[in-house]
Amino acid sequence: MAHSDARVTIHMAASLDGFIARKDGRVDWLDTSDEFPGGETLEPASVEAFLETIDCYVMGSRTYETALGFEAQGAVWPYGKTPTFVLTHRDLPRTRETVAFHAGDLAEFVDGRLRPRFRTIWFVGGGIVSAECLRLGLADEVRYSILPVLIGDGIRFFEGLDRDIALHLAEVKAYTNGVVELRYEVPGRCRA
Ligand SMILES: NC(=O)c1ccc[n+]([C@@H]2O[C@H](COP(=O)([O-])OP(=O)(O)OC[C@H]3O[C@@H](n4cnc5c(N)ncnc54)[C@H](OP(=O)(O)O)[C@@H]3O)[C@@H](O)[C@H]2O)c1
Repeated sequence: MAHSDARVTIHMAASLDGFIARKDGRVDWLDTSDEFPGGETLEPASVEAFLETIDCYVMGSRTYETALGFEAQGAVWPYGKTPTFVLTHRDLPRTRETVAFHAGDLAEFVDGRLRPRFRTIWFVGGGIVSAECLRLGLADEVRYSILPVLIGDGIRFFEGLDRDIALHLAEVKAYTNGVVELRYEVPGRCRA
């Protein structure tokens, strides 16, 4: 039996034209230098406190491989000690105990295995997995951080979505670095 208050969130950052990465997977455009004085400031302490509210992460294998690549270049593993589930049919390197792999039926995995164990479940990409999550009706909300940049082409936030999904806009925040965060609830799913 799932937690009645378990919540699945999809969160990614995208360019204004809706891409989460360039076609070749590069995300060099994520570092923007805009300033919006009227925006809110993101304090590191409040970001850290917020991240502690996330009980587990779910991601596609390509997103995992990108994170491993950044780590190999000296970047910090962004998911801390939080359990992280990687969807893959391949035999990928497992670099830490918090990482587990899963292949197969995503609905059964989320509703049957994650919701009973975790309250705050974050899908962090990429585009293929986000679309799969929405298509299967698993997401309660979508958080979309829009960066002040256009990149023309790339991997879409929702790759290959095959139908319209109407959303309810629940929150809008603008930050001093020019990022706008939109939070949408998925009607029929959201129990908040
Ligand atoms: N801007 C952002 O916030 C952001 C966030 C996340 C990612 N990204 C970028 O997005 C890119 C990756 O996105 P993507 O759409 O190409 O790929 P993705 O969604 O990260 O991964 C897709 C892969 O996951 C595996 N998979 C998906 N569903 C599965 C299931 N039910 N069972 C087993 N395996 C499953 C499959 O690979 P296998 O062949 O392994 O089975 C599939 O090809 C990267 O460049 C990354 O940097 C950006």
